[in-house]
Amino acid sequence: MAALWLAMLLTPACCLLPTGPDPNAPIKNLRMDPETKRLTWDLSGNVTRISCTRESRPPVRAVNNSYCFFAWSSPCKATNYTVTVTHPPFSTWILFPEPGDTPGAAAENLSCRVHDVDVLTCAWAAGRAAPRDVQYELYLEDGKTLARHRCARYNTDARGTHVGCRFDDISRVSGYLQAFLFVVTGSSGAARVPCTEIFKPLCEIEKLTPPNITAECNQTHAFMEWKMLSHFNRDFNYELQIQKSAGAAAMETVNVKEHTSFMLPNPGSYTVRIRVREEFNRLLSEWSAPRRFVCDPEEDAHTRSLRTSLLAVLGALLALLLALLVCRRFSLMQRLLPPIPRMKDPIGDDFPHDKLMPWEASREDAEEDCAVAEVQLAKET
Ligand SMILES: *[C@@H]1O[C@H](CO)[C@@H](O)[C@H](O)[C@H]1NC(C)=O
Ligand SMILES: *[C@@H]1O[C@H](CO)[C@@H](O)[C@H](O)[C@H]1NC(C)=O
Ligand SMILES: *[C@@H]1O[C@H](CO)[C@@H](O)[C@H](O)[C@H]1NC(C)=O
Ligand SMILES: *[C@@H]1O[C@H](CO)[C@@H](O)[C@H](O)[C@H]1NC(C)=O
Ligand SMILES: *[C@@H]1O[C@H](CO)[C@@H](O)[C@H](O)[C@H]1NC(C)=O
Ligand SMILES: *[C@@H]1O[C@H](CO)[C@@H](O)[C@H](O)[C@H]1NC(C)=O
Repeated sequence: MAALWLAMLLTPACCLLPTGPDPNAPIKNLRMDPETKRLTWDLSGNVTRISCTRESRPPVRAVNNSYCFFAWSSPCKATNYTVTVTHPPFSTWILFPEPGDTPGAAAENLSCRVHDVDVLTCAWAAGRAAPRDVQYELYLEDGKTLARHRCARYNTDARGTHVGCRFDDISRVSGYLQAFLFVVTGSSGAARVPCTEIFKPLCEIEKLTPPNITAECNQTHAFMEWKMLSHFNRDFNYELQIQKSAGAAAMETVNVKEHTSFMLPNPGSYTVRIRVREEFNRLLSEWSAPRRFVCDPEEDAHTRSLRTSLLAVLGALLALLLALLVCRRFSLMQRLLPPIPRMKDPIGDDFPHDKLMPWEASREDAEEDCAVAEVQLAKET
């Protein structure tokens, strides 16, 4: 019994070994086409049920017995693809891509970012074990259509090696919800340079750009509005930081969900900045540059005119006060130094030279004051 089990186990085992080209093998020349992602072979003889396996994933059925399609096959990481035929029992495998002999020559630390709404930038470093003549090239492969987009604008280091790439208008090659395989291939006269890849949906690698705020405002309200620009993300929340300049201490933070406007009551003159958050991909933009809005400059003019008129009124009041003071002083003086001619009134017509009379009287008694002279005059009459 054990011998039978052993025989059963050993029989297929013999065929798994990729020995030299077996002239009777039903499947020959197994290969991977990296552009179409098809694992294909040359078929000979009458075979049934061909299936393919990548690494240890579940097997997939071959199309028309002629190829297997692997959408997410890596162009850079050596992967084991196995093909199995049910009848006659047969199996073979390949590694694709072939493992490189200088793994340290591949580009390192590849990272890509969408920023400033339209721009895609990738950067990498030359591999530490890369030969001196190494050159790198980048392409994007559309995850759905498999279309490839080669880089047109490279950044180079001091040696002229490409270490970055920029797509100025990424929305021309990609729409919403698109994902790309970013691949940096390497070439050198001295060694076979492996490639480096990352797979990312663009929505995940976007550095959000905070929107521009515009405002319409008057004494009572400031209506702020903004337009969020992004080709790859849609659901945003906003954070506004508002500083009313009067007082300058209190900073007000407002969260605006989904809307792209905000009404601020009693705005006066204020400064505002905004940042945007995307919850699903956990993206957060920088703060925008602060913008200052002077709401209701008429009120400022109004207060200014009010101030000047107040000053005018104050001036007038001061003038009045001064005038009053002068008048009072004048009347006091009048009271202290009463006009002498009036005092001689009771003396009446008896004197032919009114004005001279008191002085003549006083001359009679120079030591006495005016009042006494008066009395004396009255007595004399
Ligand atoms: C291939 O094999 C199947 C059974 O395995 C058989 O029915 C069929 O006739 C064969 N065809 C040829 C062309 O030999
Ligand atoms: C299968 O193969 C036949 C003959 O080679 C061909 O006519 C047919 O189009 C193929 N079908 C597919 C889905 O490739
Ligand atoms: C590839 O996978 C097959 C089994 O599917 C295994 O027999 C073979 O050893 C593997 N090759 C490598 C290089 O790992
Ligand atoms: C890649 O990044 C790691 C971690 O930041 C760093 O240690 C390494 O030196 C970088 N590689 C190159 C070639 O710059
Ligand atoms: C925002 O507005 C400023 C000037 O008003 C302009 O220079 C800038 O390009 C605008 N930015 C965006 C993203 O619209
Ligand atoms: C100020 O603007 C708001 C909204 O735009 C409006 O409802 C309100 O009537 C305006 N107030 C004045 C005093 O103009």
